[in-house]
Amino acid sequence: MTDHPLDLAGIGIGPFNLSLAAQLDAVADIDARFFDRAPAFDWHPGMMLPEVALQTSCLKDLVTAVNPTSPWSFMAYLVAQKRFYEFLNADFGAVPRQEFARYLAWVAARLPSLRFGTAIHEVRFAADGFRLRGDGGTVRARTIAVGVGLQPNLPAFAGKLDPRDHVHSAQAASCLDRTAGRRVAVIGGGQSGAEIVLTLLNRSRDAPASVDWISRRPNFQPIDATPFTNELFTPGYVERFHALPEARRRSTVAHQKLAGDGISPATLQALYQRLYTVRHLAGHASDAPVAARLMPHREVMDVERAGGSYRLLMRNGFDGRIDVVQADIVILATGYRFALPPCLDPLRDRLRLDATGRPQIGPDFAAAWDGPARNRVFVLNGGLISHGIAEPQLSLMAWRSAVIVNAVAGRAVFETDLPPSPITWSSAECGRPAHDGGGRLDAAESLSPFEMV
Ligand SMILES: Cc1cc2nc3c(=O)[nH]c(=O)nc-3n(C[C@H](O)[C@H](O)[C@H](O)COP(=O)(O)OP(=O)(O)OC[C@H]3O[C@@H](n4cnc5c(N)ncnc54)[C@H](O)[C@@H]3O)c2cc1C
Ligand SMILES: NC(=O)c1ccc[n+]([C@@H]2O[C@H](COP(=O)([O-])OP(=O)(O)OC[C@H]3O[C@@H](n4cnc5c(N)ncnc54)[C@H](OP(=O)(O)O)[C@@H]3O)[C@@H](O)[C@H]2O)c1
Repeated sequence: MTDHPLDLAGIGIGPFNLSLAAQLDAVADIDARFFDRAPAFDWHPGMMLPEVALQTSCLKDLVTAVNPTSPWSFMAYLVAQKRFYEFLNADFGAVPRQEFARYLAWVAARLPSLRFGTAIHEVRFAADGFRLRGDGGTVRARTIAVGVGLQPNLPAFAGKLDPRDHVHSAQAASCLDRTAGRRVAVIGGGQSGAEIVLTLLNRSRDAPASVDWISRRPNFQPIDATPFTNELFTPGYVERFHALPEARRRSTVAHQKLAGDGISPATLQALYQRLYTVRHLAGHASDAPVAARLMPHREVMDVERAGGSYRLLMRNGFDGRIDVVQADIVILATGYRFALPPCLDPLRDRLRLDATGRPQIGPDFAAAWDGPARNRVFVLNGGLISHGIAEPQLSLMAWRSAVIVNAVAGRAVFETDLPPSPITWSSAECGRPAHDGGGRLDAAESLSPFEMV
């Protein structure tokens, strides 16, 4: 694949390593190459359902937050497509995911450092660096960037479902036609579950007979995208979060779940309006109603086979009872989880992992390991516990990539420091003078826990 050692080899080309490649494109003296097993860039094709939209500002693209003059920004893409004015006139409340996916694919088709159709099978470490064995040969690299995304989270009961009768949401688009005339259960009350249910309820031809939407959350809850919650998706918050002890970080992440994983209000509204139509206005041959039942606060505990269909056994958190629904086909919109990819097995014992098997990731996104300090294993999208709820989202990818570029270069290629946030998160900052639109207020004092009454 290449005979000289690279400064950085990237495993996987999703948006996160694509962002790293785009930022590195501006740095002449770092030799990097990125590999993906897929034949071409394709952003979550199994969830490219009709009319789905981004949950993030399009300004939070691959590069802009740190390098706004990069040729790989979303604006540069719009200009290159000659639709800058049309895009503005369309005034999307949220950018269609299809458009953002095309932007990402446009960049991926142009960056010279990317190699598609090249799975990495094994990464070993020798005295002089990493050796990545992939389709087409072996490459050597001083550092690696692991950007392989997350894995579908499959509940234990999924093993009892026939592969023809269930699918994880990551492949939802491929199973829609199989739902025609059947009783469908969608499990999971996040954005994926919501988009799938809306798509099923909107089907007029080949519609399912019925749709049951089951969510463990107490209700179908919105994402919180208000200003102070959006502060959680800023570099300043992430840096302060990273400095907290692990137990505190874990409990904070659990409390902040809906800030990143709730349902877009526009999707909730579209769902409610569709339910109204289905319940009260449908009846034309072209708009045959789909029987829909929404069941929040239910955790599916187990599944039993019942002839050609399934009985889903659920604990109802609302009244404490056990509920049962029948389904012919089950869509598991049960989220994603981090797992070290098998290609890193030879390094597993050298990485410092936490109790859940996640690598411990430093402020510069390098995993702690027992190898030489100049050889780093950067992990992208593995730091939910170390860096917080922004880590699996697009929001900070441009900044994270810049931090990694600086670490690989050993110098500040990109300016990543920002002035303090309007919020004083940590006690350490209490001594900092507060700003009052220019005028200075008194510094607050930080008491140690022993001084508090
Ligand atoms: C449907 C959906 C929509 C989302 N929309 C938003 C949104 O609007 N806003 C937001 O902030 N976040 C969103 N997210 C969350 C997050 O931004 C995305 O999941 C994002 O794609 C994560 O990027 P990634 O690069 O980590 O992983 P992925 O996009 O999963 O890419 C990983 C890549 O690694 C490759 N790979 C894996 N193993 C190997 C190997 N051994 N060798 C070579 N290649 C390998 C895979 O082929 C894949 O291309 C969404 C998530 C989903 C599921
Ligand atoms: N348009 C978009 O931009 C878009 C589209 C899709 C996804 N995304 C993003 O991608 C990420 C993943 O979203 P996601 O919806 O796939 O996953 P998710 O947000 O993790 O949601 C998974 C859901 O499944 C539930 N669940 C898991 N096991 C269950 C069980 N046994 N019984 C009942 N419910 C169960 C979870 O409940 P608990 O919450 O109680 O664990 C949760 O409600 C999110 O950040 C999301 O915002 C974005």
